[in-house]
Amino acid sequence: MARILFASSEAHPLIKTGGLADVSGSLPPVLQALGDDVRLVLPAYRTVLQRLPVLPIIAELMLPGITAPVRILETMLPQTRVPVWLVDSPAHFDRDGNPYLGPDGHDWPDNAARFTVFARAVVELAQNRAGLDWRPDVVHCNDWQTGLVPALLAQEKKRPGTMFTIHNMAYQGLFPRQTFDSLNLPEALWHWQAVEFHSQLNFLKGGLAFADWITTVSPTYAQEIRSADFAYGLEGVLNHRVERLRGILNGIDYSAWDPAHDPLIPHHYSATKLEGKKKNKAALQGQFALPVKPDTPLLGLVGRMVEQKGIDLVLAVLPELLQQPVQVAVVGTGAARFEQAFRDLANRYPDKVGAFIGYDEGYAHLLEAGADIFLMPSRFEPCGLNQLYSLRYGTVPVVRRTGGLADTVIHTDAATLADGSATGFVFDAANPSALLVAIDQALALYRRPEAWRQVMQAGMRRDFSWEQSARQYQELYRQLP
Ligand code: ADP
Ligand code: GLC
Repeated sequence: MARILFASSEAHPLIKTGGLADVSGSLPPVLQALGDDVRLVLPAYRTVLQRLPVLPIIAELMLPGITAPVRILETMLPQTRVPVWLVDSPAHFDRDGNPYLGPDGHDWPDNAARFTVFARAVVELAQNRAGLDWRPDVVHCNDWQTGLVPALLAQEKKRPGTMFTIHNMAYQGLFPRQTFDSLNLPEALWHWQAVEFHSQLNFLKGGLAFADWITTVSPTYAQEIRSADFAYGLEGVLNHRVERLRGILNGIDYSAWDPAHDPLIPHHYSATKLEGKKKNKAALQGQFALPVKPDTPLLGLVGRMVEQKGIDLVLAVLPELLQQPVQVAVVGTGAARFEQAFRDLANRYPDKVGAFIGYDEGYAHLLEAGADIFLMPSRFEPCGLNQLYSLRYGTVPVVRRTGGLADTVIHTDAATLADGSATGFVFDAANPSALLVAIDQALALYRRPEAWRQVMQAGMRRDFSWEQSARQYQELYRQLP
């Protein structure tokens, strides 16, 4: 058994902007079930506190660089027995808006200070200096918001082991040198082998340079980030530390994402009882004001509308695709230009395109359950959870061969149809014509109901539960100094 302090900037169902929350909300309970003593530490955002009753204060910390004390509040991750420690620093976290962006959609100007305070609090907890009589063996950090934790811990004489998991190399937490000066960080960290990156402060680099283990969320992404195309300048650090770099595929939480008992969908179904899927399709068409047509292929997309997700590729193929008898439903939020483009398409083709621009858990589940085909043509994808949900929901994914998409979807061709392994459609080039070819292949298979059902069912039967991946993390925890 190991004692693990799991530090993250989001965790479902307390606070979520994307897949990091799904992982932080579902891996810790599985580690606990496998025998580890896990505590989750998160910032006490206003929205988290509003959701919970008044919480006990279990510790008060004085941290360098700020005058007000920071309090640690304690709760449990809902529906689990995993303790959660919330780092309560009202000046940094008690505000409306998203964890990273203000209401204007721009990064909070004090993000560096916010996640420095969070990291320092994690360090105090990790060093058992908060008076809680608990000393972790491992501090498991996630993404740039926790990048300073391994860096600060490395300055201590005696410390727990550290693991840093990369969920996305595109967000590094980059700030000017003056910001570094204002944060009162140890001067030794301003070094090319520490957080200095081309004269800027790079939080992610702190994690990569100092963690005892670096992991990322799929084996293919672990290879990809060793090249400049995927690592944006940090490939050198990763290649230098390649002995300590591993790829462990994310699992998914089937208690939340299984069409057989998903509380957020109107009709339950499974690989052997597919009837409910047709009813969900009708419900989805109804919700999105599309004509209820059982035989028209319905293509869906859920996700952050950003460059990463290949949204521009989808927008580029739609004018041609919409000449065919298809329907398209999207749920997402992100770059204003992408949001507007989908609104415009929905106005122009009200019988064919339905768009919900915003964040809505219920719609995300209904779309997975009701669509026939799921589009995920990401330019890069560290793991991706939506294609895994799609597989489980019998919504055949069309994905680009990158990162976790390449590791989880098996392309349909004569050979994979014959051996029963086909689960979706995979294309290579990040351009609209390659995406269109893959969509056309999917539409052609859709017209062969028996073959289509076979591919749906093969995907639904794949097992991406957490246990195996959690054991791989445990294996690495055991090999720490
Ligand atoms: P990423 O973490 O890069 O955003 P993932 O596929 O790993 O991508 O995870 C995305 C998660 O966020 C999924 O659980 C997905 O359902 C959810 N999600 C993304 N956008 C929305 C939205 N607009 N409404 C509801 N859920 C969303
Ligand atoms: C990131 C990645 C996504 C991954 C998720 C959880 O947000 O973009 O691919 O699934 O983290 O690890």
